[in-house]
Amino acid sequence: MVIGGILIAGANGLFLAFIFLDLSAALDTNINGFEEGVEFLPANNSRKVEKRGPKRWVVLLALVLFFILISLMVGFLVWHFNYKNARVQKIFNGYLRITNENFIDAYENSNSTEFANLAGKVKEALRFLYHGIPALGPFYKESGVTAFSEGSIIAYYWSEFSVPQDMVEEVDRAISKEYVLSLPPRSRALQSFNVASVVAFPTDARTVQTSRDNSCSFSLHARAGEVTRFTTPGFPDSPYPARARCQWALRGDADLVLSLTFQSFDVAACDDDGNDVVMVYDTLTPVEPRAVVQLCGVYPPSYNLTFLSSQNVMLITLITNTVRRHPGFKAEFFQLSKMTECGGHLTGAQGTFNTPYYPGHYPPNIDCTWVIEVPRNQNVKIRFKIFYLVEPHQIVGTCNKDYVEVNGEKYCGEKPQFVVSSSTNKITVRFHSDESYTDTGFFAEYLSYDSSDPCPGMFTCKTGRCISNSLRCDGWADCTDFSDELHCVCNATSQFTCKNKFCKPLFWVCDGLNDCGDNSDELQCSCPDQTFKCRNGKCIPESQKCDKKDNCGDGSDEAECDSVWTVPCTQHTYKCQSGVCLSKGNPECDGQKDCSDGSDEKNCDCGIRSFSRQSRIVGGQNSDEGEWPWQVSLHAEGQGHICGASLISSTWLVSAAHCFVDELGIRYSQPSVWTAYLGLHDQSKRSARGVEERGFKQIIPHAAFNDYTFDYDIAVLELDEPVEFSSVIRPICLPDSSHTFPAGKTIWVTGWGHTKEGGSGALVLQKGEIRVINQTTCESLLPNQVTPRMMCVGFLNGGVDACQGDSGGPLSSVENDGRMFLAGVVSWGEGCARRNKPGVYTRVPTLRDWIKEKTGV
Ligand code: ARG
Repeated sequence: MVIGGILIAGANGLFLAFIFLDLSAALDTNINGFEEGVEFLPANNSRKVEKRGPKRWVVLLALVLFFILISLMVGFLVWHFNYKNARVQKIFNGYLRITNENFIDAYENSNSTEFANLAGKVKEALRFLYHGIPALGPFYKESGVTAFSEGSIIAYYWSEFSVPQDMVEEVDRAISKEYVLSLPPRSRALQSFNVASVVAFPTDARTVQTSRDNSCSFSLHARAGEVTRFTTPGFPDSPYPARARCQWALRGDADLVLSLTFQSFDVAACDDDGNDVVMVYDTLTPVEPRAVVQLCGVYPPSYNLTFLSSQNVMLITLITNTVRRHPGFKAEFFQLSKMTECGGHLTGAQGTFNTPYYPGHYPPNIDCTWVIEVPRNQNVKIRFKIFYLVEPHQIVGTCNKDYVEVNGEKYCGEKPQFVVSSSTNKITVRFHSDESYTDTGFFAEYLSYDSSDPCPGMFTCKTGRCISNSLRCDGWADCTDFSDELHCVCNATSQFTCKNKFCKPLFWVCDGLNDCGDNSDELQCSCPDQTFKCRNGKCIPESQKCDKKDNCGDGSDEAECDSVWTVPCTQHTYKCQSGVCLSKGNPECDGQKDCSDGSDEKNCDCGIRSFSRQSRIVGGQNSDEGEWPWQVSLHAEGQGHICGASLISSTWLVSAAHCFVDELGIRYSQPSVWTAYLGLHDQSKRSARGVEERGFKQIIPHAAFNDYTFDYDIAVLELDEPVEFSSVIRPICLPDSSHTFPAGKTIWVTGWGHTKEGGSGALVLQKGEIRVINQTTCESLLPNQVTPRMMCVGFLNGGVDACQGDSGGPLSSVENDGRMFLAGVVSWGEGCARRNKPGVYTRVPTLRDWIKEKTGV
């Protein structure tokens, strides 16, 4: 019973004191009981004296019971103090508002007596407050005040609690409420000290140290009309310290706001465990609900990392755990006056509007409303060209955090260009930014249009978008809602009628891709149901796939299986250095050691960009600096940029053979004609920092290159001097000869070539995303022109393609491990971006052995 009692009482740590009482009481009774039993026996009662047996038995039993009890008690106490009663140190960060005092400059200096006096009052107030809350009072230990700011006065503090394990949840719940110190305090010190809105939040344990250790803690106040700069310790010459806890408290004058910009940002990549992280807060204490952004990784210089505050303070923290070496950041900030109104009344037939401070990140805690009114009898259409309202903790499908509201519908997250239209001449756009996390926001244009004919001479999508009439019923969903592909009558000679009534080009039938959406274009292909189509066209029963036997005869039925084993070598299998071949396709540099000798993961320092982040580039397909560090520009003497090439090692480039054919008296085959620019972004900035210029030692076109058919359109070029890799110069990975780039895979093509057929070249490196087209489709689109060394990549409705001047440049394919592989070399095309005339590329895997033979790479 006692044990049960202890257990029951023990189930709640709060009743610790009672347990002691219980225990000692229980102990008393038993000890007394035992002693009574001994002493109660009258010595002169002979009968009873004779009956000594039972007495000894009682003593013995009592003794045994006593020892059992003692050991249980000891066990319990050990358990209780060591485990059950284990206390957790909990630290909360918070802030409170003092409503009846005014801010003075001395409060900014934590060493001033004024600071100390006020901090003393705040601590007293907190002690008083917490002791009045039953769930907090018993566990409260101490608080510290870290800063003050205006409004009337905001005090930032941390509070420490020592909480029994099983009370943690209750304490968390109690602390998460907002409190007002309402009772008149008994303490003399607190008379006439009005405290409103006390809030506190759980703290990332790693930030706690910062509030006590000042070795990497900085306080900066913006000066009128000036920009203040700061960096991580040692920037840029030495990496920031490992296991650092740094913070920068930024302030501006009362009633102003701050604009903070990171001009250079390179912190260890954001991986899950123990990563390094920079946080920006819209307050002076590191609490999650007031975080503006979390940053890690490497941002290219063009990425807009400007953040606005909602008040005159900001806090930046740097927490590092890794010992990886990264330079850190360089940042600047200045103060500016608060935006008086956000939004407005827009009139006229067209115009643009955007979130505050776009393309900088909009501030937290702001609401804007735009009322757009166009001439009567007209309607309004809003095109959101850029839309980034991404926020962590957003509940999917709800837009419960930051959002834009138009026509009663909320939009949030990241969106490709979209259109919203009105049914009257007026439309209202509301933008809401909550207290935490901000983003780039949106940039939108509005247009008035005639409601009876919204798309003059064009087809009107259900979404309001206008598309060319020729895109209707062409098999491509040009309207994002498919409305251009509904109610079509398919053209029997060039189109296939899907089961779901969509019309698709005949070329797409049996190309291995489900183009109809219901797979009906792939059903009547050469292999019947439940069979597997080998790469050589043979059909085998599905059950023979991945059965460790080469049923196809080309190994393709064993190529994409989950587990890896060795198989007989064919041209479709990857051969390890040891000579054994693997069942797994594309195993090279995928981060998994598949060959027992590890040879599939050797020489893998390739195909990785130095910037882990990419800018959100406005308009077109401009690349970002460093986005394609293997892209090379080849200039011919007196002619400027002529061809592209790809860096595959510190001395070798891969390009197209047709770039080096003598023509019009120019000896393109001679190395001396050429200059290679590496690390180049903008053709007009060839002397920019980071750009390297090289000549060629030799040019080796493929001996089988056919100037008429463009078969074997590949060349390797040796630099006259090796290049050093940098953030903008890095090699791309070469795929093994067994590597496959399946139909439908998206690949990037890049170059400074013409941006239009018959147009002119681009200054900034362009990029385009295109899809691999099935070889038989390719052969039927370009009859009698496609050889096994060629691959069609593009879109059948045109639109994205390489063009004149892109030749020799890379087709970069993202493979398993995020690495980029050289899938192809830009070779030729009929015009550029024409419908049903995709670009043709030299297949690199088919020429992999040749590259190895010529370059050793
Ligand atoms: N032969 C062209 C050049 O020398 C490249 C053409 C690529 N054309 C195309 N439509 N994909 O630059």
